[in-house]
Amino acid sequence: METGKLVVLGSINADHILNIEHFPQPGETVIGKQYKVAFGGKGANQAVAAGRSGADIAFIACVGADDIGERIRKQLATDRIDTQPIEAITDSTTGVALIFVNGEGENVIGIDAGANAAVTPDYLARYQQKVVDADALLMQLESPLETVIAAAHLAKQHQTQVILNPAPARELPDELLAMIDMITPNETEAHRLTGIAVNNDDDAARAAQALHDKGIATVIITLGSRGVWLSENGRGKLVPGFKVKAVDTIAAGDTFNGALVTALLEGKMMADAVRFAHAAAAIAVTRPGAQPSVPWREEIDAFLQQQE
Ligand code: RIB
Repeated sequence: METGKLVVLGSINADHILNIEHFPQPGETVIGKQYKVAFGGKGANQAVAAGRSGADIAFIACVGADDIGERIRKQLATDRIDTQPIEAITDSTTGVALIFVNGEGENVIGIDAGANAAVTPDYLARYQQKVVDADALLMQLESPLETVIAAAHLAKQHQTQVILNPAPARELPDELLAMIDMITPNETEAHRLTGIAVNNDDDAARAAQALHDKGIATVIITLGSRGVWLSENGRGKLVPGFKVKAVDTIAAGDTFNGALVTALLEGKMMADAVRFAHAAAAIAVTRPGAQPSVPWREEIDAFLQQQE
C-alpha cells in the first residue's frame, strides 16, 4: 500500500508487570500473581503499533548495553521497524517500567529512564536525516524534553508533520506547543497542559480550544472506554470507541497513537483513521502486556469487518 514515511522518537523499556487485586496503600504489602517481563516503553509501543499496522517506519531510540536491550532491538526489527537509529549505550541499562495492574485492569507505573536519557539533541543529530526524510514525526515525553523540542524544530524546517502524545503528563513550553500539528493527550495530560479538568464533553471542548489557542490544529483527547474527543481547528465531537472486555489497558493509548498515524499516512480521512485506531486499541486491551498486546494489520482489518 502507498504510504508516507513515519519516524518515531521515543523510549524503550523493559516492563516488569505484576497483577494485584488492589493497588497497595503507603506501608501496605500486597501479594501479586502472574509476574512477567514484557517489552514496552511508550515510544517502542507506538513504533510497534505503527509497524504492525503497516507503516513505513524508523525508530530513533536507545537501549542499554545489556541482554534485554539486544533482545528488544531484534524484536523491533521483526515488527517491520527500521532499527538502524537504535544504539546500545555503553554503561547504561535499558529503561525499566515497574507496573502494577489491578483487578479492574487499571495500571500504575514507575519508570527508570536508563538508556532513554541518552536520546540527547546530539544523538538526534546523528539520525536527523530520518526526520528530514519523514512525512510525520511521532513523539512522547519519556525522552529528554530538550530533544523533543530539537526534533520538533528540525521537523518544522523540513515540512515533517509533528505529532505529540504528551505522556506522561507534564507542563510544556509554548515554544514546543506552537510547533505541534496534532496532539493526543488523555484527560490527565490535557488537565496538566491546560489547567482544565476534563470530566465531560464541555470540559474536553474547552481543553481542546486551549490547545488550539497554542497553535495546534488537531487535538484528540483520549477518554478511555468513552472514546476520544476529536477537535479540528475548533470544531469538536465525541468519537466513541468499541466496547470490549479489558484485560489490561497497558499500551492502549500507545496502540491508538501508532495505528492512528499509520492510517493518516495512508491517506485515510480523519474519521476513518480514528475508527482504525480505536479498533487497534480495542484489540490491545483484550490482551495482557504492552507490545505483546499490539495487533497486526490483518487482525485490525478483521475486527473492523466484524463491526460492519
Ligand atoms: O504506555 C505504556 C508504557 O508506559 C509501558 O510500556 C511502560 O514502559 C511505560 O513507558
